[in-house]
Order: sequence, then structure tokens, then C-alpha cells
Amino acid sequence: MNIVVIGTGYVGLVTGVGLSDIGHSVICVDLDESKIEKLNAGVSPIYEPGIEDLIHKNVSAGRLSFTSSFKEAMKDSDIVYLAVGTPEGPDGRAEMKYIESAAEMIATEMTRPTILVVKSTVPVGTNRKLQNQMAEIAPYPVSVVSNPEFLREGSAVHDIFHGDRIVLGSDDIGALETLKAVNEGFDIPILATNLESAELIKYASNAFLATKISFINEIANICESTGGDIRQVSKGMGMDHRIGSPFLNAGIGYGGSCFPKDTSALNEIAMDAGVDFKLLREVIETNKNQRLKLVKELKMRYASLEGKKIAVLGVAFKPNTDDIRDAPAITIIRELLDSGAYVTAYDPIAYENAKKVFGEEVYFAKTVKQALQDAEAVLIVTEWDEVKEVSPKEMLELMKTPIVIDGRQCFDMHEMKEHGLDYYSVGVGEIDAKEVVGN
Ligand code: UDX
Repeated sequence: MNIVVIGTGYVGLVTGVGLSDIGHSVICVDLDESKIEKLNAGVSPIYEPGIEDLIHKNVSAGRLSFTSSFKEAMKDSDIVYLAVGTPEGPDGRAEMKYIESAAEMIATEMTRPTILVVKSTVPVGTNRKLQNQMAEIAPYPVSVVSNPEFLREGSAVHDIFHGDRIVLGSDDIGALETLKAVNEGFDIPILATNLESAELIKYASNAFLATKISFINEIANICESTGGDIRQVSKGMGMDHRIGSPFLNAGIGYGGSCFPKDTSALNEIAMDAGVDFKLLREVIETNKNQRLKLVKELKMRYASLEGKKIAVLGVAFKPNTDDIRDAPAITIIRELLDSGAYVTAYDPIAYENAKKVFGEEVYFAKTVKQALQDAEAVLIVTEWDEVKEVSPKEMLELMKTPIVIDGRQCFDMHEMKEHGLDYYSVGVGEIDAKEVVGN
């Protein structure tokens, strides 16, 4: 089928490439001409492992193309995917202006009855409003289908082909049948439901995953002063199939462009629905506090950070992405700078995005070792492989003061202590379970 995808960000580009790879003819459109130029040169505007190979494969197969012209994109298509941003607004609600302007463009350029597939994460009720708005302004019938995405940055190419489920919400049975046919090639279970349920599945899923993370982080905080080892507690919990081990890794909390935004938006949705979602607000509050734990630990070792050389390893909100949106590192580095520290940061992929935020305030090292050189402490913020590969011996040789404060469980307490490092790891108190039972 001929498909248009509006928006070539993390969701739009991966969706467009995925749909072309299962045989559809896809035109991706974006108003940002620099992005389209890059894509037409075979270069991805986003860092996503595996995406460029898929772009090259499907462009050369004649199934995938890119344009900045809505008119050109819309002329032969009757299925339009909307994958534009819905960033968090100042009041915590999702910003809808990009959705609204894209809807108007669609109404202007459409040439036949159209199915509008909304990939963007939108507050409950938005798709019904969009359905009504299109009925007012569109020259042809428009059927809206909510098709929320569940892609994780850094593994989005994997997730588009190996997701757990595809959710389709609509009032129009015909449109649902069409979208089921469109998605058949993914061979992933499909849940067809009503519009509002599809919108809520997305928010509820992300909020629940965020809840798991804040929950395990509070348990980690209990471990630190009771002799528990969070790695063992998390492992023991995860062996219960009703709990499951994913998203039970304690650390300095979640960041990124989804969990923080979606939990905040869901809280507003709940308030509008007359529900006081206290649990969710505690999840958000716990996450805010957790990301400052490393600085608190550091300040227990130095009365003042004035003039201290502190290394920060990792800026991206997680490994395998260049995304630093709402990354814990941003908050942590700002806190260190405000405390008078000299910060040397390292990130193999996100350093350019980080430079745009901190400029000359932070020195960006090219390697982990360069960041550790003469450091008076190091904070481990993102669990990049390049970070985990550094040995305790190298830390001792390179650092002026061997204080290692680990926010992502990258190193082994027993080994670090054996080498004489002052090592802190979230959720591991004085007792290291490995020393007791050897595993
Ligand atoms: C998330 C959802 O997983 C995805 O389904 C949705 O479509 C978009 O939002 P993403 O934000 O890309 O994906 O990253 P994810 O891998 O979920 O991690 C989110 C944050 O949680 C990261 O900062 C990560 O470091 C943190 N995290 C994750 C933990 O702190 N502990 C964990 O066990 C897992």
C-alpha cells in the first residue's frame, strides 16, 4: 500500500523504514529540509543502531523516499501516519501544536478518503477530537486510528520488528481491518480496541514501567542502610514471573523523552478526569530525588566541591543513544557546576548534544581515560560499554583520588574494594552479597 509518514524523528523514521521493509511503498515527509537532505543522502538525522542499513536497502528497492513537500507526499496515498512530537508543555501537559498544524496540512493536501494513523503519544480524547476536527475541515472522509508506538530509543529498529504487540484503536471497523492488513507483515500480535483505550494503553504502559523503576530505586535506598544488596533483591523479585526482571535495575532513575513527559502528562490527564493519582506523583518525585543521589554521596566525601576536578562518565539518558533529553546527567552536571566543581564529561555518542547544553562550562574528554586523568572523583551516570571496560587498576593509576560513585551498577563492589578504591554503588550497602555467597 502507498503510505505517507509525517515526521522523521525517532518514531516516524523507524516506523516508515519498518513499513517499507515489510513491502509497503512509503514516503516520509518532514518540514525540516535539512533532515530530508540528510535522508536523501542516505544519512540518518537520528542515532539509531541499524537504521541507515535499512534506509539504504529500502530506498534502493524503490519502496522508500523522502520529501519536505506535503503536496508531493499526499498525492498518491490514502494512509497517513502522524508521527510528530508532542513534547511536554510548561504546564506538564502534552504540547499539541505540531499535531494540529499537521492535521490542517493533511486536510489541505488530501486527494481521497484517508485513514489517519496517529503514532504520536497524545492525551486521552485527542484522537476523537482529531476525528471531529477532520470531519469539519477535510474535503474527504477521514478515519482516525490510534496506533501508539512502544519503541525504545537505541533498540527501536529491533522493537519495530519484534515488539510484543501492535495496538490499534478506532471507531471505524473498516479502518481497523485495513491497518491490520498493513501490519500483517510484522507478524506481531495485534490488539484492536476503541480510540480512548488505545491512547491509555500507551500512557499506562510507560507509567507502569516508570513505577517499576522508582519502586526498585526506593528498595535500593532501603538496601543501603539494612545490608541488602539490590542486585540480589532485584534478581529474586524478577524470578517471580508476575513481576518479571525487566525494568528492575536500580540506579539514578529514568530520563529520556518519554517516561518523564508521559508520567507528567498522565498525571494531568488523571486530574482532568477527577482522579488524584498520588501514586504516580510519588513515582515522579522519587525519580527526581534519585538522580541527585550521586552528588549527595560525593558531598559526603568532600565538604566542598569548589575547584575539585570531577569526571562524569556518560551523558545520554541511556546507552546506545545520542539523546540527552531529561537525562540524569544534565541535572547532575548542573549541580556539580553550581557547587564550584570542574567537570570533565565523557560520552561516546551524545557529547555533541551535551556540548550544545554546557558549551565551555564542561570539558568533554575524547576517552574515558582522558576523563579520569587526575580526577578527584568519578560519577558513573550512563552504563556505556566503554565505561564498563575500565579496570580498577586503570582508575587507581589515572585518578588523583580514587573515589568511584556508580549510578548504574557498572562495577563489582568486591573487586573495587579489593583494589582499595573508595567505591559506592546505588543499593549496595556495607555487605556485598557476593562476598557472602560468592555469586
Ligand atoms: C520508553 C519505553 O520503554 C518505550 O516502550 C516507549 O515507547 C518510549 O519510552 P525509552 O525512553 O527509549 O523507551 O528508554 P527505556 O529503555 O525504556 O529507558 C527509559 C529510562 O529508564 C532510561 O533512563 C533508563 O536508564 C531507565 N531505566 C530503564 C532504569 O533506570 N532501570 C531499568 O531497569 C530500565
